[in-house]
Amino acid sequence: MNFIPAEKTSFLQEVVLGLSNRPKRLTPKWFYDKRGAKLFEQICDLPEYYLTRSESSILETAAVEISEYLGPEVILIEYGSGAMSKVRTLLDSLDKPQALIAIDVADEQLLQASDTLGVEYSDLTVHPIVGDFTSSFDLPLWASAGKRLCAFFPGSTIGNFEPDDAEVLLRSMHNVVGHGGAAIIGVDLKKDKSVLEAAYNDASGISEKFNKNLLDRINRELKGNAQLDQFKHIAPYNEDKGRIEMHLVSLCEQMLTVSNYHFPLKPNETIHTENSYKYTVEEFQALAKSASFAPTAVWVDENQLFSVHLLTRA
Ligand code: AVJ
Repeated sequence: MNFIPAEKTSFLQEVVLGLSNRPKRLTPKWFYDKRGAKLFEQICDLPEYYLTRSESSILETAAVEISEYLGPEVILIEYGSGAMSKVRTLLDSLDKPQALIAIDVADEQLLQASDTLGVEYSDLTVHPIVGDFTSSFDLPLWASAGKRLCAFFPGSTIGNFEPDDAEVLLRSMHNVVGHGGAAIIGVDLKKDKSVLEAAYNDASGISEKFNKNLLDRINRELKGNAQLDQFKHIAPYNEDKGRIEMHLVSLCEQMLTVSNYHFPLKPNETIHTENSYKYTVEEFQALAKSASFAPTAVWVDENQLFSVHLLTRA
């Protein structure tokens, strides 16, 4: 008997589908179980991982301007809220923010972070939604009609999507925020290959652990047999496509078993686990326009590593 609980079936289905693909692939949203979410927090503090620090400094610098653009009593909708550390800067600068609607697949972290935030910001309604923000979700009734809605999508998570899919996601955000709505999107900038590659191949090996945790999670939740030391973490920058690609490379010929499915791997065969697309300011503004948003403002840090875009809906 190979019993997998019902809530794990979509994970199993996607893993089986991805590993049946050529080249084999897995979806980055499954990185974020409890362990993965913790490892990602550690990545954010790495000296090589400039993204989080750069974005925080931009949000702090731009706080007053953002607040002026958005006006009072905004309802924020955070896509992939994680530990909810980034939204605090925004909440602190906004004029009487009404509510935070937070969507994340990492259920445990989402509920815990929502509780903590709700205690810290006692005037704020915190409304968690457990789920995948690429699927449709229902806003609470109080968030519809006549409210000023602003989507918040920090961290350059938009880079996980193929540009076409990023456009689809922006378009759905455009729908969700409605008339007079806005979106604040954090986007990592194109830059020197060596800086990019260092951020995803850190000296202390946390990125490797983060990548391999996906196999570990498959072992734990889906009865997998992956031996982590039979795989190597690589994260090269694909200059043509403008993306960092994370892979797990099989070091030998082996049979990966997941539940009762079997996937043979050749030596050097890779499992593609993540893309992280990088955009110039102009490229991202063009993408936003194709999703019907008006690029209204953009802020870049002093080292020109990262960008935060304010998009609005007429
Ligand atoms: C959370 C998707 C923005 O792509 O930089 C960090 C995830 N992967 N190190 C990124 C990640 C490897 C991160 N995002």
